This record gives sequence, structure tokens and C-alpha cells, in this order.
Amino acid sequence: MDRRHLLRLLGTATAAPLFDGVPFLSALGDTIGASPRPRLARAPLRLAPVVRGPEFTLRAQERVVEIAPGVNARVWSPGDGPVGPTVEARAGERLKIRLENALPEHTILHWHGLRVPEAADGHPRLAIASGQHYDYDIPIIDRAGTYWYHSHAHHRTGIQAYRGMAGLFIVRDEHESQWQLPAGAHELPLLIQDRRLTPTGEFEYNPVMHEVMEGYFGDTPFVNGIRLPIHDVETTTYRLRLVNATTSRILRLALSNGASLQLIGGDGGLFERSETVDSIDLATGERADVLVDFSKVPVGQSVSLVSQPFPSPVNGMGMGMGRGMGMGMGMGRMGGGGIPQGGAMTLLEFRVVHGVTPKPWASPLAMARTLAPPERSTRSPARTRTFRFDSMAMQHTINGRTFDMERMDVTIPFGETEIWQFENASPFPHPVHVHEVQFDVMQRIGGRGRIMPWERGPKDTVLVMPGEQVRVRVIFDAYRGRFLMHCHNLVHEDAGMMLNFEIV
Ligand code: C2O
Ligand code: CU
Ligand code: CU
Repeated sequence: MDRRHLLRLLGTATAAPLFDGVPFLSALGDTIGASPRPRLARAPLRLAPVVRGPEFTLRAQERVVEIAPGVNARVWSPGDGPVGPTVEARAGERLKIRLENALPEHTILHWHGLRVPEAADGHPRLAIASGQHYDYDIPIIDRAGTYWYHSHAHHRTGIQAYRGMAGLFIVRDEHESQWQLPAGAHELPLLIQDRRLTPTGEFEYNPVMHEVMEGYFGDTPFVNGIRLPIHDVETTTYRLRLVNATTSRILRLALSNGASLQLIGGDGGLFERSETVDSIDLATGERADVLVDFSKVPVGQSVSLVSQPFPSPVNGMGMGMGRGMGMGMGMGRMGGGGIPQGGAMTLLEFRVVHGVTPKPWASPLAMARTLAPPERSTRSPARTRTFRFDSMAMQHTINGRTFDMERMDVTIPFGETEIWQFENASPFPHPVHVHEVQFDVMQRIGGRGRIMPWERGPKDTVLVMPGEQVRVRVIFDAYRGRFLMHCHNLVHEDAGMMLNFEIV
């Protein structure tokens, strides 16, 4: 097929570069749904409905929803849509959230990144059976930021989050409001997932042996539960709140036209300074807050949010780029293995449809000023703890052990500052997540050997590549109680790469 023929098949996506694996795949025969479609059918992006306090109910249930034009899929979601609603809260308020479980199995929700009382953290021992409900009482003590929530059911986190048991949790505060960042229609919360979609519109989740080791990778991107959506934008600056809610995939987020991204925040809110980057690596669980400037894109053209190809990070697997391209460009679903880690994917297409005069905050110069400086403790750490992440013989362990619900692995005196050192002794990447804290990434030894631009603010999840040691400074001063630390590759987590710690 020549490029012109390809572009015709791509329809509106004429700005799509050749590495846009997914449109190419779809153009070769979009068989998603009942009958093959000759051309791409893109659904408009939908923003999840917003729910606010002081009280609301999330009802987890199975439903059939439209995830692409004419394509219905069975999802498990805490709401009416393909994923959960976006929770919006102000710092200082108190939310009472009831979770009703109308799913056919046990579940529980965890508020990822927020520091909450033990009873509200969604530890798997708190899971409720089908037909039960759980009441959360959550004082919002964290700063403005992009947090999220998802199932934390024992051994079922992966499949439940995959089916739609996830959503965004946005906290706003006065400090952030003063910056007058793009808001309203110019602020887009984006929950990114990848799934395998069968011809009948089912989400297939069935990790085979090698996937239990490396992770489970989809062949189809979803944003806010919609398959490869399209969104109409104006020639101005947008704020994208990006959440990697995939099962196992590291996303190398970039724009298809090569334009840069202005990174303003991460897991725990705004950074001290914004930074202009070409791409952002986000592992499962991590977030990025970015400004994207469409003012130089001619009206009528499209720019896509993509995950760029990168070499397989798996030690001993060689270069992944060619492999990724090959899979993305034709064999994805046929091969049955999804697009591998590092394979190129188009996630969301922005169609510039309307010219406007950009607002003043669109200027990178204006944004280079100091943003909200996070108050961070400078107390000297009481101790260093080392956690070694191993994957071998079909087991994923931390310091040689798999998760035991009843075993207390680490006890920490309330209020103390510690250095936690994460060592990856395995061939696979591990995004390490700690509940109940926002830590500072202090140092990375081995591998990439430095702190990445998107790791410069408070974080709750940090990617530890094979051969890397990452040191973080953690303060345990929110609540006493029993919480979790685990790998956020959900296949690894479900396999037991998790431990209990208690703040006493
Ligand atoms: Cu986002 Cu314990 O998880
Ligand atoms: Cu968490
Ligand atoms: Cu892992």
C-alpha cells in the first residue's frame, strides 16, 4: 500500500505520521464490532461526568456501553459510563463516598495518591462482597493535583481496572487557582488504557505465562473508556491531565507533529517550575499535567497524542522498536499478543477546528515563572530501608516474598522521615507505588542514572527499570494504620508483588 492510499484510508487523520500504528492497523480492516468497517470510525472523546461532595454514591456494576461508533462493550464501572466519573474536590473539604457493589464478585476502591485514613484506603482486606456497600470518609488533606481511583480487589485488581473500575480524582486549591491555568473546555482529564478488543466487543483479559512475567498489553488504546477518540480543539493552549491507567504499559507520551509539551506537574500536583519536554515516560499509576499549545496548528489539521516507540526495556529482549512497529502495523490483534511494550500507539486525535486568539497563559515565558512551590520536609531521615524487586520462576517478589494479607512487613513510627531504596534485580520494569505518601525522588543509580523531568515534584509512583536503584525520601505523617506498597504493573501486583506496612 502506498502512502497516498494509506492517507485516504486514514480519512481525517492526514497529519498522522507513519508510526501511528493503530490507525494503520485499523485502516487495514477495522473488524471491531459486528462487521468489518471500510474506514476508520472515531468516536468523539467524552469527558467522564463530574461528581462532587459532600456526599455521593458510586455504584459498581456491569453495563453495556458504546466505546466506539456502533461498538458496544460490556464494562465494569463505578458509574454510568465506560469508566468511573471524575471526582472533584477542594482541599480542606470532606467527602463521604458510598461504594455499592453490584458486580458479581468482591471489590473495593482505592484513592491513588491521596493520603486518607486507614479505613478509607481500600486495602484488599476491606473488599466487599457482591450486594454489599462500603462507606468512605475522606478529608482532603492533599494539595491540588491529578489523583485517581481504581479497584484494589485481591487478585482481581488487574481485570477489574481493565474492565473500567477506574476514574480520575481531581483536587483543586487556592494556591493552584492563582495561576489561571486553562480551565473549562480547555482542561482535559484523560484516563489512558489499552485493551484487547475481540470482534464481538469483549475486553479480553487472560494473561498467559509469559504475560504473567512481563505484563499484559492491549492492542487498542482507550481514553476515558472510548476507543481511539477524536477531539475538536481551538488554536489555543490546553491543559491535559494524563493518567496512565493501563495494566502494564509504559507510555512515551508525545505529539505527532513533534511539538513540545510543557510539563507543569506530576503525581502530587504542580512542580516548582514548568519544563519543556519532547516526550514524557509514564508508567502505570503515574500522572503528568501538561500544557499543549495548538496555536501554531493550521485550522483543519490534526495532531495526535501518541505513545512513541522505544526499545523494549526488558533485559535481554533486544531492541523493541522494530518489533513494536511490526506488531502495531498489522499483526496486533491477529498475533494475539497485543502491541508489545515499547510499541507505537496513537491514543487520541486532536482536530483543530477553530481559530481563536490565544489567551495570555499560552505563553511559555509566562509559564516558566515559579509555580506553586511544594512545601517539603528537610528533616533528616531516621533510617534507610531497601526493597529488592525480583521476578523469576513465575514469581514476583519484594525482598524475596510475595504478598500475605495478614503479614506485617514493615513497621514505621508515625511522623518519621525515611529513605526507601527500590532495587530492580529483575529483567522487567517495576513502577513502585507507595500508598499514603507523596515522596521525593532523590537519586537514581544505574540504568537511566538520573531523575527525569517528570519526577521533580511530589510523587507516589516511580518507575524502576531493570538494573536501576531509586532512592526516595518519604514522610509518614498523615495517619497511623496499615497501608500498602507494591508494583503498579497490575499483573505483578495481582501476582503478589506487594507488601503491608504499618505506621504506628
Ligand atoms: Cu494505584 Cu495500591 O494502587
Ligand atoms: Cu495507591
Ligand atoms: Cu512489577
